[in-house]
Amino acid sequence: MDFSVLPLHKHPEYLQDCCELINSEWKRSHTARMQSLQGSCDQLPVSLILLKGEALVGHLKLCPIPSIKSGCFVQSVVVNRADRGKGFGSVLMQRAEVYCKDKLNLSVIYLSTQGQEEFYRKLGYSECSPISIYGSFSTPPIENGPNSMGRTKGSR
Ligand code: ACO
Repeated sequence: MDFSVLPLHKHPEYLQDCCELINSEWKRSHTARMQSLQGSCDQLPVSLILLKGEALVGHLKLCPIPSIKSGCFVQSVVVNRADRGKGFGSVLMQRAEVYCKDKLNLSVIYLSTQGQEEFYRKLGYSECSPISIYGSFSTPPIENGPNSMGRTKGSR
């Protein structure tokens, strides 16, 4: 099968499909979702899409962590319902890791999940202390909950 993982902003023809894919899992206004996706850029944030042939089957977003310049935070990992359980999610994550290392020069990836822990464990992620994905505040920052998982790129 012919797979490719591409930055969405280089392929705006997939914006609409991508918006619908993410909104099929996490309902949000079309306008807000499109605005978020249109923020994808050569650095961070960047939305990566997984294509099977020319069909969009998956998406994830890599976001900056202001306090951890060597890392990013992965959000909105989603595979088209009809294509789940066929290894596409794994391909998407693994290609995203290569993108982080080779294109963005990052060494660690964080994420937070409730319910998909086993999927990430199988990819080599493990629980870590909560991190703040926000910038500096004069009051204590809000952390991203107890289910943070992280992995350094050199660990596999
Ligand atoms: N629980 C246990 N095991 C799982 C789960 C799960 N929820 N999901 C996948 N796995 C296992 C598979 O059985 C497979 O195991 P194997 O290698 O032993 O056969 C392995 O993980 C890899 O599975 P894939 O087929 O590569 O995963 P898939 O293509 O189905 O994608 C994904 C996984 C992205 C989680 C998909 O199910 C999905 O889109 N879910 C809905 C959206 C969602 O919850 N996304 C994650 C949000 S968290 C975040 O964004 C950081």
